[in-house]
Amino acid sequence: GGAGAIARLLLRWYDDHARSLPWRIAPGSGESPDPYRVWLSEIMLQQTTVAAVAPYFAEFTRRWPTVADLAAAPDEDVLAAWAGLGYYARARNLIACAREVVAAGGVFPDTEEGLRALPGVGAYTAAAIAAIAFGRRAVVVDANVERVVSRLFAIRTPLPASKPEIRTATDAITPEDRAGDFAQAMMDLGARVCTVREPACLICPIANHCDAREQGIAAILPAKTPK
Ligand code: ADE
Repeated sequence: GGAGAIARLLLRWYDDHARSLPWRIAPGSGESPDPYRVWLSEIMLQQTTVAAVAPYFAEFTRRWPTVADLAAAPDEDVLAAWAGLGYYARARNLIACAREVVAAGGVFPDTEEGLRALPGVGAYTAAAIAAIAFGRRAVVVDANVERVVSRLFAIRTPLPASKPEIRTATDAITPEDRAGDFAQAMMDLGARVCTVREPACLICPIANHCDAREQGIAAILPAKTPK
């Protein structure tokens, strides 16, 4: 059906076009992701761009290769290493979370609910970690995904009112298998193909399924209610 076809096309595109990012493992490499690295990257990416995060991620994982190493670091060392990423509450929560995980045996929870209970882990981040680190089917919706899905289903209701509809539509196309790759494929499509101003529909792997493209309104979606 349509939903299964969309996921298959996106995953096939991701196999060839995934951005190579320091916290990812290449699709098809057979390696399994390290939950610590997935968690660290998702916390850093909360309000910061991929390009800005990359050097911080490299430095953190060099100095503190495991969650136990990070938990044992003095607060001031971690806060100093965080300087420049902004939003210091994130760094405070990062330290608290690392220590909580170590106190619980050094293993990250592997469900959205368990992850959501950790300091600094909101609904989005819990879904992203559950999918990417643990292969759980989770509905992962960030700003890129909101744009892709608004266009795919020609959702004309402006953001933020359209959020529930976007979530339901994302749920409907999220596959049981490779949920983490699917989530990251949607993010990459939004970052590189289904871009804000000039979506590159000619190279989009799901252009044939896209209602906004068919209606000629891709570039003007999603609409936004002025703040
Ligand atoms: N933004 C948030 N999480 C991301 C990820 N895993 N890959 C790329 N961009 C992201």
